[in-house]
Order: sequence, then C-alpha cells, then structure tokens
Amino acid sequence: MELIDGKKISSDIKKEIAAEVAEMIAAGKKQPHLAAVLVGHDGGSETYVAAKVKACEECGFKSTLIRFEDDVTEEELLATVDKLNNDADIDGFIVQLPLPKHISEQKVIEAIDYRKDVDGFHPLTLGKLFIGEHETFISCTPKGIMTILDSIKTDYVGKHAVIVGRSRIVGKPISQILLKRGATVTICHSRTKDLKAQTLKADILVVAIGKADFVTADMVKPGAVVIDVGMNRKADGKLTGDVDYAGVSEVAGYITPVPGGVGPMTITMLLKNTLTAAKEQHAK
Ligand code: GUN
Repeated sequence: MELIDGKKISSDIKKEIAAEVAEMIAAGKKQPHLAAVLVGHDGGSETYVAAKVKACEECGFKSTLIRFEDDVTEEELLATVDKLNNDADIDGFIVQLPLPKHISEQKVIEAIDYRKDVDGFHPLTLGKLFIGEHETFISCTPKGIMTILDSIKTDYVGKHAVIVGRSRIVGKPISQILLKRGATVTICHSRTKDLKAQTLKADILVVAIGKADFVTADMVKPGAVVIDVGMNRKADGKLTGDVDYAGVSEVAGYITPVPGGVGPMTITMLLKNTLTAAKEQHAK
C-alpha cells in the first residue's frame, strides 16, 4: 500500500502558484484578488475562511474578507454579490456555506457571475461539466481529488470508479469528471442496497458520505485506489475520514489519509481557480 501525501502535493502546487504570481506581478500585471463572503460565526466556516485568507497571503494573492452577521437579509447579500460581480479588481469570489436558513443558498449561488465562480458551484458551471465540454472552474474538492489521482498516474480508461455519496459539491461532479476521463462510473449513496457488492468492484473508490470509518477492509478490492473525502470529528476531538484507515490500508493499493489527504488540496485548488480567473481577466 502506498500512502498519498496530499499535504506535500498541495505544498508543491502552492509554490508553483506563488512563482507564477510573482512573475505576473514582475511583468506589471495586476495581483490576483480573491474575495470571500462570510455570514455569521459558524466555527467550521471561520476556520475554512481563515485558512483561505492565509493561503492567499502565502501565494501572493490579494484577499478581501466581507463579513455579515447572521441577521443579514437576502437582499443585502445579493447586493454584495452584485458589487463583487462588477468590481474589476476582484478576479474571483466565494460565499462560504452554509448560509442562515432565511437566505436561499441557491439564489445566492445563481447570482454569482459564473466567470468569477471559483468555487464552481454555479449551475452553468455544473451544467458544462455534465455536458463534458468545459472544465474551467471545477469545484475545489473534485479538482483536488483529480490532482491526487493524476499525481499517481491513475489510468482511468475502462476502469471501474465507484463513488460513495451523491452531493453536489463532491459526488456528482467527481462522477462526471471520471466519466469524461473514460472510467465506468457507479454512484452509490445512503439508500444503495448491498453497498459492499458495489464497492468491491471499484478500481477507484471515492468515499464522501460523511460517516466516520464507514468503509471497511472487507468492502475494498485488493489494490484499489481509495480516496477518502470524509472529515468527521470523533468524541475525543480527533479527525477521522469515512474510511477505516487502519483496516483498508492493508488491502488498498493507494490510500489518502485523513487528515493530510484530500483536505489540504481543496484550498490550493481554490487558489488555482482564482489564478485561472485572473489570467482570463487579463486576456480581455
Ligand atoms: N462550505 C464547506 N465547503 C465549502 C466550499 O468549498 N466552499 C464554500 N463556499 N463553502 C463551503
């Protein structure tokens, strides 16, 4: 079994991004600029957004954090999205989810100019992914997974990829990308009957179901590539994935650990998308 070091891959890519940004600035171009909108004080969202701002600094990006209290109205938030859409200095922006219940997340996401949608959540972006014609702003977690799979020179053509989880942020987009790369794709979820019969067929197994240590060694084909997207906090405060790492690492060919696998890749992919957005702005 070979462990895939997401932290190392991520750190190498961040260095490449920083070098490219330094070159752009030396050539007199505008500094890439990412904005993040954060509503309320959810602990997870605070942590993610702080990490995104820090990553911007590491790579030489400008970042702007726009904060609102929980009682912000949908109109106020939509007005901010409109302002960011029309601000020529902003290359890309994200609205951190979840939003308070009185605000429609879908409405807010749809209001984002798809050319600045570096999270890749806009229906137009997802629709293009579904058609298989466009891969610009692939959302950060699927993009991170593909970077990991490419890093171990995964051969996709004709391989059986099984995805456990059908979320719009991970399960659905990753299934479309793997399909485009030539894999045979099965999407499983919490209602799938005899899940083990499906996962045992997987050459590539992507698990994003949100249940701690859910996939066990008896569910994995020997030699499979296992990507664990889970982030579950155990009673003792430790982070664990959706895959029983100790058991599955005895069977798998490759496996991503939690923490240190997919997690570190996501923010780096956000920077990559923002850099792409910045370059497209320059080309106009
Ligand atoms: N909440 C959890 N993950 C994400 C993400 O990738 N982007 C945004 N905007 N919100 C999130």
